[in-house]
Amino acid sequence: MVSARAAQVLVASNRGPVSYALAADGTLTSRRGGGGLVSGLSAIGAEANALWVCSALGDGDREAVRRGVGEPGVRMLDIDAGTHADAYNGIANSVLWFVHHMLYQTPLEPVFDAEFRHQWGAYETYNRAFARALADEAAEGAPVVVQDYHLALVPGMLRELRPDLRIGHFSHTPWAPPEYFRMLPDDVAEQLLRGMLGADRLGFLTRRWADAFARCCADVLGGTGSTRIGVYGLGADAEFLRRRAHEPDVDERLGVLREQIGAGRKAIVRVDRTELSKNIVRGLLAYGQLLADHPEWRERVVHVAFAYPSRQDLAVYREYTAEVARVAEVINSTYGVDGWTPVLLHVEDDFARSLAAYRLADVALVNPIRDGMNLVAKEVPVVSEEGCVLVLSREAGAWEELREDAVSVNPYDVVGTAAALHEALSMGRAERAERTKRLAAAATALPPQQWFLAQLNALREA
Ligand code: G6P
Repeated sequence: MVSARAAQVLVASNRGPVSYALAADGTLTSRRGGGGLVSGLSAIGAEANALWVCSALGDGDREAVRRGVGEPGVRMLDIDAGTHADAYNGIANSVLWFVHHMLYQTPLEPVFDAEFRHQWGAYETYNRAFARALADEAAEGAPVVVQDYHLALVPGMLRELRPDLRIGHFSHTPWAPPEYFRMLPDDVAEQLLRGMLGADRLGFLTRRWADAFARCCADVLGGTGSTRIGVYGLGADAEFLRRRAHEPDVDERLGVLREQIGAGRKAIVRVDRTELSKNIVRGLLAYGQLLADHPEWRERVVHVAFAYPSRQDLAVYREYTAEVARVAEVINSTYGVDGWTPVLLHVEDDFARSLAAYRLADVALVNPIRDGMNLVAKEVPVVSEEGCVLVLSREAGAWEELREDAVSVNPYDVVGTAAALHEALSMGRAERAERTKRLAAAATALPPQQWFLAQLNALREA
């Protein structure tokens, strides 16, 4: 445990690098998170006296905090469960996520009522808990890297408590254009922007999101003040992925998947959290359209769709999850025949199986309606064995870096996406391989560890 004001480098995020599960018999088991964000931020471990401040997210985490169980260099905050739920489910995931991904069905939502105001109060409390913990732990002048929309108010709050610190904030989401952002009540919009501008440095995944943020600041506040804004395009971790993708558990799943797909058939792969912004339903509809428009592909292709449940506390996510299963079933009952199931939908989260699917994919479908980056688009070309054609939404942050060698789609255009799938399936071997090689190079330009160090260095120079 780092003692008070001793941490030389700090990271803060809602979800931390480790989580705990509480079994019925009272035993606690820990599990390390995966993914680019965790591996990037894990680079903090190489720094002396580093501390990662995160939130306790479930009963297991809370019990771990109570028992004093933890990892060195990680401090979990046990924020009152109701306050956390209002801040995380209510504000972060139902308001801020919706604003930045432009997910509202605007004739009826959003409605910023008294309930919203109550939740906003919880969001402030939750952000203050982080600011206080960071203020208690940080050594004089230490850099603090705050992550994402859950903690937008932390930079400003921390600046007031500890003007000596070097504060950065990084957004992993898109940023809404001002005409959408300004749906938020004026005082809330102002508070969010001022909160972030409490940082010395702000980071975004693409120029597009950074510019949108600056435009919001210009409209709402008249400018960004002295805060500098940088773009850091988080890339895939080639070294880790190539090693992990050839471990025995992945090989085993590859065999199972090949059998399920059937010899001689092509595979269109997608891997997502079942997230509203990922556009899984239109992706399935586009695949159905492909089978309708190009009967020659029937029985010669399988759509391998991994859609892992996410944010199931929210009704709209549960409904979306059900809709994904329903549409997959409709396609299977419309087109399926003995020995060929057109859609293979798996919902049980299994990273090893995702990697196996990356290895065998002929086409990867990444069609979000809006996405900060999308790491799947960057991981597939790195792991692909045969050369994989990437069908990529122009609304994904990754598109800015991968557009030249991907097949671009407008994510709302189901007929256009079906045509893109046909084009991708028809592409010759040599071109596929060439494109995949260039995609892999672009996708790994800024690996997670370098991405983290670039932010840290910018702060140290601040
Ligand atoms: C996005 C956000 C992350 C978040 C992740 C998973 O990538 O930018 O901050 O951790 O989604 O969502 P969850 O709500 O499960 O943490």
